[in-house]
Formats: sequence, C-alpha cells, structure tokens
Amino acid sequence: MTLMQTLKISRPIIQAGMVWVSGGKLAAAAANAGCLGVIGAGSMKPDLLREHILKAQGLTNKSLAVNVPLLYEKSEEQIHSALAYGIKIFITSAGSPKKFTQRLKSAGCTVLHVVSTPDLARKCEEAGVDAVIAEGFEAGGHNGRDELTTMALIPQVVDCVKIPVVAAGGIGDGRAIAAALSLGAECVQMGTRFIATHEASAHENFKQLLLKASPTDTMLMMKRSVPVRLFKNKFYDEIKAAEEKCADKSELEKILGRGRAKLGMLEGNLDEGEIEIGQIAGLVKDVVSVEELVDRLMVEYHQTIKELPKF
Ligand SMILES: Cc1cc2nc3c(=O)[nH]c(=O)nc-3n(C[C@H](O)[C@H](O)[C@H](O)COP(=O)(O)O)c2cc1C
Repeated sequence: MTLMQTLKISRPIIQAGMVWVSGGKLAAAAANAGCLGVIGAGSMKPDLLREHILKAQGLTNKSLAVNVPLLYEKSEEQIHSALAYGIKIFITSAGSPKKFTQRLKSAGCTVLHVVSTPDLARKCEEAGVDAVIAEGFEAGGHNGRDELTTMALIPQVVDCVKIPVVAAGGIGDGRAIAAALSLGAECVQMGTRFIATHEASAHENFKQLLLKASPTDTMLMMKRSVPVRLFKNKFYDEIKAAEEKCADKSELEKILGRGRAKLGMLEGNLDEGEIEIGQIAGLVKDVVSVEELVDRLMVEYHQTIKELPKF
C-alpha cells in the first residue's frame, strides 16, 4: 500500500500543521483539494482544538489529520481531544516518537513523526511509526539543530528505513515536488507556501510580508534551546542580541514567553512578534485559494517530469 492510499489522498501533498496558521478552515480546504489537511494543534487548548476539528469536519468528509508538537505540556490533552472527535491520522513532532505512538496505534490511528536526521527516522521505525516526515533545515518553524538540508536528508532517510518517507523543508512549487519524489519521498509536506492562501488564519500583514520576503530574510535561531527559523525583524534582533551575550535557555524563554508567536503570526505585529517562515519565502508571490494553489502545483509537477528526459 502506498502512503497516499494509507492517507486516502489523491495528491502527494500534506498541508503542514502550523501554529496560528493552520486551523480547521485551511485543513478542510487542503483536504477538499485532495491533500492531507492538517490542523496545527500546537497553539490550541483542547476545547479550541475540538472547535477546529468540528469546523473542518463540517467543511469536508476527506482526509484530516492533527499535528501535535510534543514540546508543549498540553500534548496529552490535545491527543485525547482529537481522538474523542474521530481523528485517525496524527502527525507528532518535536519530541520522542515513543511517547504516544503505541497508544495511537492501539486506537487504530496512522502516525507520522517529523525527523531531522536519519538516526531519528530509524528510532521512529522502531517505535512503530507508519511514516516519517524528513524535514530539512530550510523549513519555516521549529527545526533540527544539525542543519541537514532537504536535498541531503531525504535520500539518506529513504536508505535507512523501510517505512514511507515524506519530504519537507524548502518545497514551494511543483519543481520541488518532482525533486523530492525523485529522491525517494512518497509525498511532500509544505508549510510556508500554504501561509499565502485565503484559507490560512495567518494575519493579512503576515501574508503580505511573506510576498515581499527574500530567501536571505530568515535565520535558524535558538539552537541551544528550541531551534526555530525566524524572519529577521525586531523580535529576531532581540533574540540575536541575547544569544550574542550567551543568554541561557531560561533567558531566551523569557523573551519568547510573552505570546510572541501569536502576536506576530495571528495578530500581525510584524516588529514585536515572532514570524516563522522558511527559506522558500522568495518564491511566494501571490495569495491564492488552496484549490488554485494545489492545481498549480500539480501542473508544475507534471510539466517538470515531462521535461526531464530532455536532459
Ligand atoms: C508558521 C509556521 C508554523 C509552524 N508550526 C509548526 C507546528 O506547530 N508543528 C510542527 O510540527 N511544525 C510546524 N512548522 C513546520 C511545518 O509543519 C513544515 O514542516 C515546514 O513548514 C515545512 O517547510 P517549509 O516551510 O519550507 O514548507 C511550522 C512552520 C511554519 C512556517
């Protein structure tokens, strides 16, 4: 069985779980376009997660998943809530694959876990995970500290596990989907590109900033605590200055701990807020509907593979 069959999707695309960006509306639109639609539970209290699941289920009867980053203490409650509302596909990240996989498998769920190294992919396979999402450090958001790029990471993960591999990080158009599948991935997961859609809950200021961003506007920060790729704004300057003074984990967390991600990405304060985008930002030139985006991605993908034999 292919991963697309397991996930019951007709396009090889997973719309990434993203804090403050991927609520029920985006996930349902992605699912209706044939992708795996993912609700990013990271920023949600369990009752808000329940609202988003119900909203998405009201808008689609296609494949929906919930992304649960394991670094937050409410991850257990989020999983409980998602299970109670019928979610059968989970994408866990930022923690040990051993933590919930067996429990989710016993409940009949499909589990994907995000990895940044081949070693972690092997651990996922041992833990019983169904597929790994190998994410290169080009990606927006939280990230591996080893700085493995998608191009280097994917084939090495593909060679070391038998379970399906999904490629993530720096995939912004159909050419990159063709490249990722050529490297042995069965699907791709795309985050940054989906921010610039009408259905994403990102603030309009954030979407407009993404359209103007260049590929050098981001940097992987906080490698000594929770590595995250940030857009270079005033908040980034604060983090950078603290890191240059060798601030410890608790000092960095103090700067982070003032709801900065919500302020930046949901409320649109582009100076004081935390803005997460990936290196692919320079390719994003318009805000479109998810349906239009996915159709375009598939046209570009087919065009690319058609032209390859020329070379
Ligand atoms: C705004 C934003 C928020 C994100 N939040 C999460 C999250 O909550 N959980 C997670 O596992 N990954 C998160 N990510 C990473 C994405 O799930 C995805 O793997 C990544 O965006 C892929 O790389 P790309 O941005 O180059 O497409 C986030 C990424 C972005 C851009």
